[in-house]
Amino acid sequence: MYRALLVYFSGTGITRHFAQLIQEQMEEQGYLCDLLNLEELIDITVLWQKKPVALHYTIRAEVKRPLSKYPWPYIELQDALKAVTENPILSNLESEWEDYDVIGFGSPVYGFRPAPVMIRFLLDLPVFKKPKRVFSFATHDGAQGDYENFMSQVLTDKGLKFVGHIDHTFVYSASAVIRTSFNRLTAGRLLVQKSVQAKENIKIFIKYLNNLLQGIQDIYRIATPMSIIFGLPYRLIYSYGIDFLLNHFLFGFGIHKDKCIQCMTCVMQCPQGLIELDDDGYPLRLYHCMYCLRCLNWCPTDALYFSKLTNGKARFPGPEVLLEAAKQDELSARLKKH
Ligand SMILES: Cc1cc2nc3c(=O)[nH]c(=O)nc-3n(C[C@H](O)[C@H](O)[C@H](O)COP(=O)(O)O)c2cc1C
Ligand code: SF4
Ligand code: SF4
Repeated sequence: MYRALLVYFSGTGITRHFAQLIQEQMEEQGYLCDLLNLEELIDITVLWQKKPVALHYTIRAEVKRPLSKYPWPYIELQDALKAVTENPILSNLESEWEDYDVIGFGSPVYGFRPAPVMIRFLLDLPVFKKPKRVFSFATHDGAQGDYENFMSQVLTDKGLKFVGHIDHTFVYSASAVIRTSFNRLTAGRLLVQKSVQAKENIKIFIKYLNNLLQGIQDIYRIATPMSIIFGLPYRLIYSYGIDFLLNHFLFGFGIHKDKCIQCMTCVMQCPQGLIELDDDGYPLRLYHCMYCLRCLNWCPTDALYFSKLTNGKARFPGPEVLLEAAKQDELSARLKKH
C-alpha cells in the first residue's frame, strides 16, 4: 500500500475541494492519503511576513495605488529566488515526511504562479537528501501560466524528484466579487459537473503514479503539436483577460463602517496577517496583498470591498455551500418524482 501526502493552500476553498477529490480517488485505489493544509502546518503569517514575496500584480498595485503609509516591504520573486535559504523552522520536514511514497503540493494559480504564501513555504523548505517523489496540483480559471514549470523548478532545487502535475478549473470563484448576483444552484451544478470530469483526470494521474511507484516507466501526458497550436490563442486571451481582471477589479481596501460589526473575521482570516483594527476598531489593511479574497468573501455583513467594481457585488460562499445547494435540489427533484 502506498502512502501519499497532499500539502495545499486554498484561498476560497476550491483547491481544498480538488485536494479532497484527489484524496478520495487515491483512497479508492488503495492508497493511504493524508491532507495537510499549509495553514495548519505552520504559521504562514509569520513565515510570509518575514520574507514577503510579491507577484507582478501586487507590485503593479503598489506602483499604481501606493498604500504609502508604510514602507514597501516586499521581495520581488526573482530576488526571492536568488536569496533562497532553508528555514530552520521547517528543517524537520524531511524526517516527518519520510514514510510517504509521494507528496503533492497544491495551490490556486495567482497571476500565473502559485499563491505567494505557497511560494514562500517552498522556498523555505530544506534541501532533501533523499529524492522523494513529488508532484504539483492546482486550480485555476483557465490560465495556469508558469505554475507547473515554477513548481517543477523549485521542488527540483529542493532535492525532490518532480514527477508530474495535475490541475483543473471548477467554478470562477474569483469573478464572483464583481458580479451583481451569484446563483448558488447554477454554480453548484457546475461544480458537481466539473468534479466528475476532475475525477476522471485524477484516475488517469493515479494510474500513472502507480506505474511510476512500481518502477514501470510511464509517460503521463504528451503535449501534441495540435494541442499547442489550438491552445495558444485560448491561453493568450485568458491570460490577458485575467490580467485585465486583476488590474481593474481588485486593489484598494474600502469599508462601510455602518455595516461593520467589528467581528474580526477579516483579521483572523487573512493568511498574510495584513489586516489590523484601527483606533476605532475598524479593519485596516496595511499593504497590498495576494488578493486571496477571503476577507471580502467571509465578511458576514458585506462591509468590505476592494474597488468600486466590487462594492455591493456578489460574494463567493465557498464550495461546500454550492455542493449543498446542488444536493438539496437533487433531493427535492427526487421527492417530486415519487
Ligand atoms: C488574485 C488572484 C489571481 C488569480 N490569477 C489567476 C491566473 O493567473 N490564472 C488563472 O487561471 N486563474 C487565476 N485566478 C483564479 C484562481 O486561480 C481560481 O479561482 C482558483 O480556483 C481559486 O482557488 P481557491 O478557492 O483555492 O483559492 C486568480 C484568482 C485570484 C484571486
Ligand atoms: S469581517 Fe466584516 S464585519 Fe467583521 S470586522 Fe471585518 S469588515 Fe467588519
Ligand atoms: S487582505 Fe484579504 S484578500 Fe488580502 S490576503 Fe488578506 S484576506 Fe486575502
